[in-house]
Amino acid sequence: MKVTKLCHTRDIVTVNGLYPGPVVYAQEDDRVIIKVINEAQTNVTIHWHGVRQRLSCWSDGPSYITQCPIQPGQSFTYEFTMYQQKGTFFWHAHVSWLRGTVYGAIVVYPKTGVPYPFPYPYEEHTLIFGEYWDMDVVKLEKAVLASGGGPPPADAFIINGHPGPLYNCSANDFYQISVVPGKTYLLRLINAALNMEQFFSISNHKMTIVEADAEYTKPQIVDHIMLGPGQTYNVLVKADQPIAKYEMALGPYMSAQNTTFQNISSIGYFHYSGAAINSLTQQALLPQFNNNQIVSSNLNGLRSLNVTNLPLEIDTNLFFTIGLNVQKCNRQNPNKTCQGANGGIFAASMNNVSFVKPTISLLQAYYNMINGLYTSDFPGVPLKIYDFINGAPNNIPNNTNSLIGTKVHVLEYGSKIQLILQDTGTVSTENHPIHLHGFSFHLVGSGSGNYNPATAQLNLVDPPYINTIGVPVGGWAAIRFIADNPGVWFMHCHLEVHMSWGLAMAFIVKNGVGPFETLPHPPADLPRC
Ligand code: C2O
Repeated sequence: MKVTKLCHTRDIVTVNGLYPGPVVYAQEDDRVIIKVINEAQTNVTIHWHGVRQRLSCWSDGPSYITQCPIQPGQSFTYEFTMYQQKGTFFWHAHVSWLRGTVYGAIVVYPKTGVPYPFPYPYEEHTLIFGEYWDMDVVKLEKAVLASGGGPPPADAFIINGHPGPLYNCSANDFYQISVVPGKTYLLRLINAALNMEQFFSISNHKMTIVEADAEYTKPQIVDHIMLGPGQTYNVLVKADQPIAKYEMALGPYMSAQNTTFQNISSIGYFHYSGAAINSLTQQALLPQFNNNQIVSSNLNGLRSLNVTNLPLEIDTNLFFTIGLNVQKCNRQNPNKTCQGANGGIFAASMNNVSFVKPTISLLQAYYNMINGLYTSDFPGVPLKIYDFINGAPNNIPNNTNSLIGTKVHVLEYGSKIQLILQDTGTVSTENHPIHLHGFSFHLVGSGSGNYNPATAQLNLVDPPYINTIGVPVGGWAAIRFIADNPGVWFMHCHLEVHMSWGLAMAFIVKNGVGPFETLPHPPADLPRC
């Protein structure tokens, strides 16, 4: 479809002519069937972010992980059950950077007659945050990878597709919620941005977090909330302030050093009925872009409302480092193609392995036992132990090359896993939103510095149960889950450029015993490569 934003008109790929795309509404335990017909000129897949895809790995959607892309003119039908899941999710394209325009919300209500664990809100609104690019996002990925350097900043942040009045030609292109004084609103917040973590706040209003990544939390009252790409929060907001027009603001959280990013906020309005259209607006104050303090206090305040299936005994201990690398320049025309730090090429890695997507999906390669597409030697712990925050993997500060490969880590069915995610300072420490497909996990701990098992404090009482963890800048996070869903499950940084640079890996979870522990055969219309 054609969109006009920021004084330019261009064609974007989207779903059913809507931008953001249509909301998928369902109820807990519903069977969801969605036929995707690719009428675009580019490859497409859709991922149902946060849906655990119990025994339906074939419908998960990441390209070259669980399926080959749906080619132009082809179609594929995704089918899955919202098994014991409800809340706010989203769907997005999972091929190149196409999710820059191809995304929408998924709202799953409790079963009929089952109430929310908080007073019923007067109304609900979904706010899906994004980044807008004047350029074609698939071409943008190619250009960034060809340059060896970092991505340009987005041209705007957007709330439900609207940049708001602080950008050129956008005075009237804003999103607004009309509210009745005294009523309580449930806002479903989704960060669908490509490359930026974002702060959100509403002037003069507190927000009460009641759900994170589609699982209920104990109420946490905050002034600001940080969402990394891939994170969703439900918050309650009471219209308990004097009648006026209040700003909702969305701006950058950037914890890395030496990066450029969009610094203009996207503004929408929380407009009380009775307030004059032109009445003075109450400005929203966002935290400084590098306010790590607010981010860690948000995270530390996150508590599960009810805890189920938390493994107390662990049989598989994993430790993955996450961060950026700079590869030595080995390209022609280094001025144009080696624009990373120190004249190198940016890369990113887990356990110092930069993931390369195979040419046929890993799930097909695994299921059909096709050799040569991947190796099963993704290390369970780093190959070298060093000071992750202050050192470099090769002990040579100017050589930060990673290994390159398509490596997976194989898990026995039912393994009880603890995984430590450790940020590295190889290039710059940074908060990374790490997302796991196929599972939610219990966040049992997080902290700053190098993880130290002797001093790390774990919460085994009410840890949040989430699918994307913003691993603290220069710190670590400890997550637990039981590998009881057979298939191939991608885990990656949800900052799109980091994924392109290789900050990803995949787990293969083996079948267990019997039909309820075995991956079914692939659907007949699974796309061909
Ligand atoms: Cu929302 Cu693999 O991601």
